[in-house]
Amino acid sequence: MCPFRSSLPTVRTSAFIDISYKITKKVIGFMELERFFSEQVKAMRSSEIRDLLKITEGREVISLAGGLPDPSTFPREDIKKIAEDIMDKNWERALQYTATGGVEEFKKQLISLSSLRGISKIREENLFVTVGSQEALYMLANLLIDPGDQVAVEMPTYLAALNAMRLRKPNFLGVELTEEGANLDQLEERAKKTRGKLKLFYTIPTAQNPGGVTMGLEGRKRLLEIASDYDFLVVEDDAYGFLVFDGDAPPSLKALDTEGRVIYTSTFSKILAPGFRLGWVVAEPEVISKLEMMKQNVDLHTPSFTQYIAAEAIRRGVIQSNFPKVRAIYKRKRDVMLDSLEAHFPKSASWSRPKGGMFVFAKVSEKLDTGILLEEALRKGVAYVPGASFYHDFSGRNTMRLNFSFPPEEKLREGIRILGDLLKEKL
Ligand SMILES: Cc1ncc(COP(=O)(O)O)c(C=O)c1O
Repeated sequence: MCPFRSSLPTVRTSAFIDISYKITKKVIGFMELERFFSEQVKAMRSSEIRDLLKITEGREVISLAGGLPDPSTFPREDIKKIAEDIMDKNWERALQYTATGGVEEFKKQLISLSSLRGISKIREENLFVTVGSQEALYMLANLLIDPGDQVAVEMPTYLAALNAMRLRKPNFLGVELTEEGANLDQLEERAKKTRGKLKLFYTIPTAQNPGGVTMGLEGRKRLLEIASDYDFLVVEDDAYGFLVFDGDAPPSLKALDTEGRVIYTSTFSKILAPGFRLGWVVAEPEVISKLEMMKQNVDLHTPSFTQYIAAEAIRRGVIQSNFPKVRAIYKRKRDVMLDSLEAHFPKSASWSRPKGGMFVFAKVSEKLDTGILLEEALRKGVAYVPGASFYHDFSGRNTMRLNFSFPPEEKLREGIRILGDLLKEKL
């Protein structure tokens, strides 16, 4: 028997713990609580990425699964200095409750940061600060989607956004990705079929997660024309807009929006540090004021302290001057991953060649199911995210998302070699 077998957790571990927990509870006479949970909770799905991170915790597994930034990109010394200065000079406000929509100084700086994505002519009333962009996505889903609403999503798309939207029970309409971003003919066809009922399109047009593709300027203009013709909203997730390392990033959709149709969201997780949990929304004041009302019920406001630090990091140019370093690190790691895929993956596989972001999306032979293969990959010491979780209909069973931002270069090479050997063995 494999010496690791008994100690190595598998993807079934949490289910096993669940069952034994239930039995133990029964034995010691504790009551069953599940029946008290709301209907909404029943629709909740645990994020497979989070589960995976738990499985790989403290083990010698090369994780190509998560989406963690490379810690060497965190401007640690600058953050230290800024935090110290704030504690000396502005501590009373930084440690106090603040406005629900965000700290005024921070919003002023967000206007200047957003301008780097082409977004101009916005004022503080167009901005809303959130606890990471995940909170923005969750709140937008609650603000905009009623059960049964028609919502278009890319195939594949960001699974935590999908999961947040799933709670609202929409009717998802899938739009395939091409090398140029979402297939716009298909989007138009979907919109036409709903006869004016398509409510919104959630899209990640720049360095898409997980697809790794970026929509060009012409595509962006056409997307907005379609949205206008068929009168639906566009939720633009620009998490990687500052992280394009081959050439210049096209302007955000919001920058091209002349109708107030685009609700934009972005994050400090990839350009400063995810531990700050800072994201922001740019939208029309009607949307912002509803978000404000909603956030009062959720967490009152985003932590003041991190907002003051981030505001100062923009004001001092720390974030802006860090961009070239971050982009260079990820470009090099992207190249290592692409070279390794070329060297080790079977010829039947194909993969994206991202110009930015943190992920490569690979498609393997139709004969293989990457969900089933994962257990064996973990046993061999490498983790990835099976692609099905990025599809609203759980298709894409022969796809996988591979992260290149976090593992050191030698681990990227080794991880891809192990995975390539496993794939070849299975063919
Ligand atoms: C496309 C996309 N949107 C949103 C997020 C959420 O990021 P955060 O909540 O850290 O801002 C992520 C995180 O990986 C992402 O990839």
